[in-house]
Amino acid sequence: MIRHVIDTRQLKNRNFLEGLFLKADKFKEAIHDGNDSRIHAGKIVCSLFYEPSTRTKISFDSAAKRLGAEVIGTENAREFSSEYKGETLEHAILATQDSYDVLVIRHPEDGAAKRAALVSKKTVINAGDGNNQHPTQALLDVYTIRQKLGRTDNLKFGFVGDLSHGRTVKSLTYLLAHMKGNELFFISPAEFRLNQEILEYLAKAGVKYYQTDDIDSVLPILDGLYVTRIQWERIASQEFEKVLEGYDRFAITLERADKMKNDSIIMHPLPINNMKSSGHPEIHPEMDRHPHAVYFDQSNNGLCIRMALLDTVFSKDNLYNLIGDIP
Ligand code: NCD
Repeated sequence: MIRHVIDTRQLKNRNFLEGLFLKADKFKEAIHDGNDSRIHAGKIVCSLFYEPSTRTKISFDSAAKRLGAEVIGTENAREFSSEYKGETLEHAILATQDSYDVLVIRHPEDGAAKRAALVSKKTVINAGDGNNQHPTQALLDVYTIRQKLGRTDNLKFGFVGDLSHGRTVKSLTYLLAHMKGNELFFISPAEFRLNQEILEYLAKAGVKYYQTDDIDSVLPILDGLYVTRIQWERIASQEFEKVLEGYDRFAITLERADKMKNDSIIMHPLPINNMKSSGHPEIHPEMDRHPHAVYFDQSNNGLCIRMALLDTVFSKDNLYNLIGDIP
């Protein structure tokens, strides 16, 4: 049976997650030691990006190449694929799928990756679909939490920023809900709250969560804080301007970071809004060297996690069969 990686609600199995992380550890060590991991020569990954990407595209392509696989596709699929001529995504896949072994897709529409999976006879990996899901980001996020905090259970974990228009928060929230005893704190202005569907999922799973717009009261108790940018491309520009006005009350400054526990971490999926928010970034630049800030390590962890995932898909090993059904 073909398994796809579309939504983190598929990733409930702890053996899957732990197995993937152990595999990622090995690939990370091999990269560090300069050892060759090219065990999948002859495989082909098709990378189809209908939306801009820096980190995800670079690390997926590198992961494939470090495993010995070839990468084909386009990073400007909106213009350079036949979608430009009016072709549907389904037709594009049906017409090309003999040419590759795995499809990695990023698309601006919610649900596009699932639509691709429904017609595909090759594994589809969602590299971000609209405002919906970004499962490999959530995997590298949890891997980073495990690496930096030594555990993924019994955490007090906060999310701050635009929680309604981003896909990374949604994917990570589901994954953290699959662990044990995590308490989640959602910090945002009222207009950027997480959607009801996720809150209901958390309630059903018995996960304790809290919603607040008062970041300073929460910071001292958190083990980890996940900061996100305002997804200005998904909201009206007047709304962006308006919300920016009072937004400094959520920004991570040195002063705020120092309110956190000594061993706590500050994460961000990147990119940080700097240029677009005219001097009001959600994380101030001087934070980059702060001991709590782990976002560059987090981003670099994308490589070994994506190697582990591609290896799982290429070899169709035990882990592959632990990937759940698409909801
Ligand atoms: C994120 C995305 O594309 O959803 N970036 C990424 O892949 N690391 C986050 C974002 O764009 O805000």
